[in-house]
Amino acid sequence: MKFIFFLIISLYLLQIVNAQLSPSVRKLFSAVPIEKKLYIYGGFMDNEDPKVQSNPNDRFFYLDVSSSFDTSNLPWKVTPNNAEELPLGSFSSQASGGLAASIGGVNNDTIFFINNEVDNATKLISPVHSYNSPNNVWNTQNLSGDRPFGRNQMKVVTDYTGKIYLLTGFDFTFQGATRTNGLFVCDTIKLNCELRDASVFSRLGYGVTLLPNGNLVYMGGARNNIPDPNGFQIIFIYDTVNNSWNPQITTGNIPPPDVGITTVLGLRGDKIILFGGNNGDNNNIYVLNITNYEWYVPEVRGKGPVFKRGEHCANVIGKYMVITFGSNGVTQVKYRANGESDVLLLDISNDSEYIWTTSFDPTPLSIDFPSSSSPSSPPSNSNPKTKTGIIIGVTVGIIIFVGILLLGALFYIKRRKNHKNTKPIPTPGNINNEGVIMIPSGQELSQRIIR
Ligand SMILES: *[C@@H]1O[C@H](CO)[C@@H](O)[C@H](O)[C@H]1NC(C)=O
Ligand SMILES: *[C@@H]1O[C@H](CO)[C@@H](O)[C@H](O)[C@H]1NC(C)=O
Ligand SMILES: *[C@@H]1O[C@H](CO)[C@@H](O)[C@H](O)[C@H]1NC(C)=O
Ligand SMILES: *[C@@H]1O[C@H](CO)[C@@H](O)[C@H](O)[C@H]1NC(C)=O
Ligand SMILES: *[C@@H]1O[C@H](CO)[C@@H](O)[C@H](O)[C@H]1NC(C)=O
Ligand SMILES: *[C@@H]1O[C@H](CO)[C@@H](O)[C@H](O)[C@H]1NC(C)=O
Repeated sequence: MKFIFFLIISLYLLQIVNAQLSPSVRKLFSAVPIEKKLYIYGGFMDNEDPKVQSNPNDRFFYLDVSSSFDTSNLPWKVTPNNAEELPLGSFSSQASGGLAASIGGVNNDTIFFINNEVDNATKLISPVHSYNSPNNVWNTQNLSGDRPFGRNQMKVVTDYTGKIYLLTGFDFTFQGATRTNGLFVCDTIKLNCELRDASVFSRLGYGVTLLPNGNLVYMGGARNNIPDPNGFQIIFIYDTVNNSWNPQITTGNIPPPDVGITTVLGLRGDKIILFGGNNGDNNNIYVLNITNYEWYVPEVRGKGPVFKRGEHCANVIGKYMVITFGSNGVTQVKYRANGESDVLLLDISNDSEYIWTTSFDPTPLSIDFPSSSSPSSPPSNSNPKTKTGIIIGVTVGIIIFVGILLLGALFYIKRRKNHKNTKPIPTPGNINNEGVIMIPSGQELSQRIIR
């Protein structure tokens, strides 16, 4: 009986030693996959403790997608020396969601971070920062041309030539800096940036998808918090080469107007999968066939989310659409209380039937593409460093576990000897909840700054 008690204490201590990161819930953040890691940066939740995300490890971390996992036990990890290296001081505050982040660089292995706010000290737009994943190196990037300036409901996407596209939505002024309606195009290889006209698409909370031919498809979203009534009926195809915006009318089962959605390209490059949003429509998923621009509701099996999520992120990793965090409606989060994971996995490998699943299988998938212009699948090089790390981690974990067990056993034996004059059993850890400081709701930038 008592031994079991000590065993529980030992297991508890072991859990502290091997603690996995448990990030706070968030919306309007960035999720960037590189090298079998899905990096998460920033975001916030209304009424959350502002201290939460001052913690570097709650601000920047990744989901390890190099091996199998179940969504009930997510392998969140932090980068080495994150607390020391993360340049939090030169990033925008969490109130604005921080920044827009996307992949780029000569080797396509660096995240570029575009700030949302002016620097309070210099009153200048903060420079672009970068994080190189394989070398774990942060840098300030000195891009020539127009200095890009983000906002939390904008979507950012990188094309096949290393150019980042950041659509600013519409003109507005925040902290004395004016953002001009337009499309920032930042070349992460030549290191320059220009602002192009995008007046045909003045919205936020939209979806953007990179097609296999290099064009971008913009759809959905809202202006002044009112979803565009034709957001999915008329989509806009941006030709990145000749800089033209081409409206395209769609047919079929057109989704109702919505904002806070995500769109990803299907695995065969011939359809766009729309997930989530903030409206009351109970259907989570629509698919647009980009051969004939016809919308349909796909066959979906498995236990999907009960509450529709918005202002989340969605990335295609392997055969899954990986959905991270999000809110249920604009200001609420109900999914955790309902036992749903921060990560949702939709297996999109079979076009006849998508499947909600809780287990992630990292095995690379071979897919027959309809054309040769298929998007390249992520490289499947194994990462020896990570493997060594896991082996060391497991070994150290086992040694510590055995040690704690032995200590527990010794302690138990000792206590049995001193059975008559017992003291209260020390309880492990300070599990106290720190005082939670509430900040006003409506923290969402859109609601504060739209004039
Ligand atoms: C910058 O200054 C503004 C107004 O003075 C303030 O509201 C904001 O919180 C400051 N931001 C940071 C990151 O200190
Ligand atoms: C950008 O400029 C800053 C200061 O001028 C410098 O410290 C930094 O190294 C430069 N970054 C790169 C990537 O060259
Ligand atoms: C960069 O890597 C991403 C996946 O991480 C891939 O989708 C994209 O095509 C790559 N781009 C280039 C230019 O290789
Ligand atoms: C740009 O190319 C697209 C085809 O990708 C074409 O439909 C459009 O008319 C072109 N626009 C201009 C301004 O050349
Ligand atoms: C997409 O449209 C093309 C052209 O009409 C059609 O051949 C194809 O079967 C459609 N795909 C789906 C999944 O409906
Ligand atoms: C795809 O799903 C359909 C419908 O459930 C099923 O008949 C078919 O066997 C599946 N294909 C594969 C390759 O699993």
